[in-house]
Amino acid sequence: RENFLKINKRETPPFNTHPVQLEKLAQQTLSRNGWLYASSNAGLSHTHLANRQAFYRHKIVAPQLIDTNERSMRTTLFGHQVAAPFGLAPIGINKIYHPQAEVPVAKVAGELGIPYCLSTAGSTSIEAVAQANDTGRAAKAEARVPDGPRFFQLYMPHDDELTISLLTRAHASGFTACMLTTDTWQLGWRHDDVATSNYAFYRGIGADLGLTDPIFKKRLSEKGIDPDKQPAEAATLWIDTIWHGRAWSWDKAVWAHKKWQEISGGKPFLVKGIQRVDDAQKAADLGFEGIIVSNHAGRQIDGAIGSLDALEEISEKVGDRLVVTFDSGVRGAADIVKALALGAKFVFIGRLWVWGLSIMGEQGVRHVLKGLLADLDILQCVGGIRNIGDIKKSLLQSQPKGY
Ligand code: FNR
Repeated sequence: RENFLKINKRETPPFNTHPVQLEKLAQQTLSRNGWLYASSNAGLSHTHLANRQAFYRHKIVAPQLIDTNERSMRTTLFGHQVAAPFGLAPIGINKIYHPQAEVPVAKVAGELGIPYCLSTAGSTSIEAVAQANDTGRAAKAEARVPDGPRFFQLYMPHDDELTISLLTRAHASGFTACMLTTDTWQLGWRHDDVATSNYAFYRGIGADLGLTDPIFKKRLSEKGIDPDKQPAEAATLWIDTIWHGRAWSWDKAVWAHKKWQEISGGKPFLVKGIQRVDDAQKAADLGFEGIIVSNHAGRQIDGAIGSLDALEEISEKVGDRLVVTFDSGVRGAADIVKALALGAKFVFIGRLWVWGLSIMGEQGVRHVLKGLLADLDILQCVGGIRNIGDIKKSLLQSQPKGY
């Protein structure tokens, strides 16, 4: 089995990976604004709680005396082999969390064979992130670890030339799948961010992904903004370009899908933010290759359902027509298994890796991810799960939806 799954039995772990401890440590490490940006949710955090509650109504009922000695957590995703059934959800402005921003995250993901997704709001250029991910891939902890897809997340500007430029750069840098986020035309009403004027804070943090784009540079010069002399104004224009507050509709998502397919030669395109069966069916009818059942970690609509509560019916209805993936609220291997049992093909984690990055940069991300891999390996060993394909609904005992 993969060497990297061997938990640190001989080394002293750098920090406790219990999610509550991770949050505490991240809070201690980050600036007040940084902490509030990462931890804030929409409204009263009701949906953030609902995301967790949804996991608690499913419990694992593990079969005993199964020979799990030859086990594997590998699976396939869009025709790629992947080392594990989870990847890194897109999270922007990584300079808030660490001076090296996205670079260590992409590198460690590559090292461990865990699919990485870059956000359009990234503080690093598309090209530099791809290079970091390639560096990690080249230095793999385990030679047989597969590479998997590399995702680019799109916040779609109201500027087609710019969108095409971003997609072209992503394809040229070896991103093999695109995901369009549809729940965030603007940031949700997050009291903590509003109270601390965080919108001004993160605008000043760094928006290199945008500032390195040739079309965006053209827009800056059209407006007479010199990014060397007016970095805050330039960053503000970028943030206002991607979180513009003007909603797109399905026809534009179809346009982006078509453009991505033309540019990439037919690579997959996913719609991120689906919570309704009818939307999932629409995505399938329109020919999208995948969806992410997600509510953005509860940061957009407070009072929305727990994301896991949307998953089962969506998987049942469209799981044979497109690839159903999941995020929002995953905090450990048992959560990953529950989501897979409810029909997800693949799961993304968000805040877990952000806390690791915040606490200890590259080492922190590595520690969190290796911990999650070890957690899943142990769960497979003691839970009778030889292969990811063994994870079925019958592994769960479930209570009715809601709380
Ligand atoms: C996000 N998320 C997000 N999504 C996206 O499409 N683009 C982005 O730039 C961001 N940025 C971002 C920042 C922070 C601080 C958080 C917490 C989340 C949403 C993210 O991709 C994912 O949907 C959730 O984070 C998954 O939930 P968990 O795992 O964080 O509970």
